[in-house]
Amino acid sequence: MIQISKNKNIEKSLIIIKPDGIQKRVAGKIISRFEDAGLEIERMKMIRIDEELAGEHYKEHRKKSFFGSLLKYICSGPVIIMVVRGPEAILKSREIMGPTDSRKAPSGTIRGDFGEDITVNVVHGSDSPRSAEREVRLFFGENF
Ligand code: CDP
Ligand code: MG
Repeated sequence: MIQISKNKNIEKSLIIIKPDGIQKRVAGKIISRFEDAGLEIERMKMIRIDEELAGEHYKEHRKKSFFGSLLKYICSGPVIIMVVRGPEAILKSREIMGPTDSRKAPSGTIRGDFGEDITVNVVHGSDSPRSAEREVRLFFGENF
């Protein structure tokens, strides 16, 4: 059970195990990292993201040079989408994921251990409460 202390900020974060995580058969290990960090899996499903959904999810990046390759990558195979919940879930998730560029991510982080580079980086995690709310609604279509 999660220890919920009064002054801890209970949050939700939308996590995606990207296609390379499934292909490398490390999805179970990645899920364990979130559980071991004290987060609870509140929702989980396996889907294949189409270009429309990918474009909506990553709309903040639509003008970036990497947008096309990002969409191609995220749509290249099935993914696991999760809502994790717990104290400081957004920051904690991003800490255990490591920085965006897997080559710069320390070993012991998810990206450091399982990612390839700055694009193929095995996981997504929401970057703010506002993003988490939008992303949970986008993928699970329900009130936050
Ligand atoms: O995922 P994160 O929030 O760490 O990074 P982002 O800056 O929001 O970028 C979203 C995703 O775009 C990354 O996770 C990478 O898969 C991809 N990306 C890329 O292909 N090339 C970059 N220079 C930056 C990000
Ligand atoms: Mg981001």
